[in-house]
Amino acid sequence: MATFIVLLGPPGVGKGTQAKILADVKKFAHISSGDLFRENIKNQTELGKHAKSYIDKGQLVPDDVTIGMIRERLSRPDCELGAILDGFPRTPVQADALENMLAEFNGQINTVPYITAPEAVLVGRISGRWTCRSNGHIYHRVFNPPKQDGICDIDGSDLYQREDDKVETVTTRIRVYLEQTIPLVEYYRKSGKLVEVDGTQSVEQVSKELCSAVIK
Ligand code: AP5
Ligand code: MG
Repeated sequence: MATFIVLLGPPGVGKGTQAKILADVKKFAHISSGDLFRENIKNQTELGKHAKSYIDKGQLVPDDVTIGMIRERLSRPDCELGAILDGFPRTPVQADALENMLAEFNGQINTVPYITAPEAVLVGRISGRWTCRSNGHIYHRVFNPPKQDGICDIDGSDLYQREDDKVETVTTRIRVYLEQTIPLVEYYRKSGKLVEVDGTQSVEQVSKELCSAVIK
């Protein structure tokens, strides 16, 4: 049976950073809904054009579009053993849809790590973030700088600041998270799968706690 890890937490808390480390350790696929949208935007697909109008405003992309995109991604062969879900589900409708998809693909949720940090930490992290244009590798001006300014250490492509990382949009993203995604904390706590992790710690410490929470 395929095993899925759902990373829950506010914008900028470190979901992408941790998902990449965990995916390496567990040899699982890393599915980031935000990365999938950004790839569609870069390739100017219809889905990308539609999603961009919401993402640029810091709003969630409608559930039906998001669920369809994730469903297609989960059906690919690299998810046969399982995957780390980063940024999905983000609403109760998406969480219910995930249950149905897992039943269909013979999968189950192993753990739901819930990474937390106060708003000031989130804003500081997002405002200093640099993202690799080719593969979404993540850096921070202060906390995790690349060896050479503006260049990804891993694949040499250029680093850019995400469009939705402007301060006004970040504030909206945090508000939307509190309104629409926070209900999932109780949803997964009731299922007994939620594990809280203090996201203000170093990348290494968070990763250590996550690994011991999910690797059985
Ligand atoms: P998405 O791309 O998922 O963005 P997000 O949830 O806002 O989260 P971020 O990617 O900003 O942060 P993160 O938690 O991954 O942190 P990171 O590791 O980069 O979504 C973007 C948009 O797409 C949404 O607003 C929405 O419009 C749409 N969307 C996506 N999913 C959707 C869904 N399911 N439904 C509907 N719409 C959806 O780290 C941040 C920074 O901090 C980096 O610079 C990093 O180097 C640094 N850092 C990380 N950890 C640490 C640490 N421990 N100490 C110091 N610095 C750290
Ligand atoms: Mg991310």
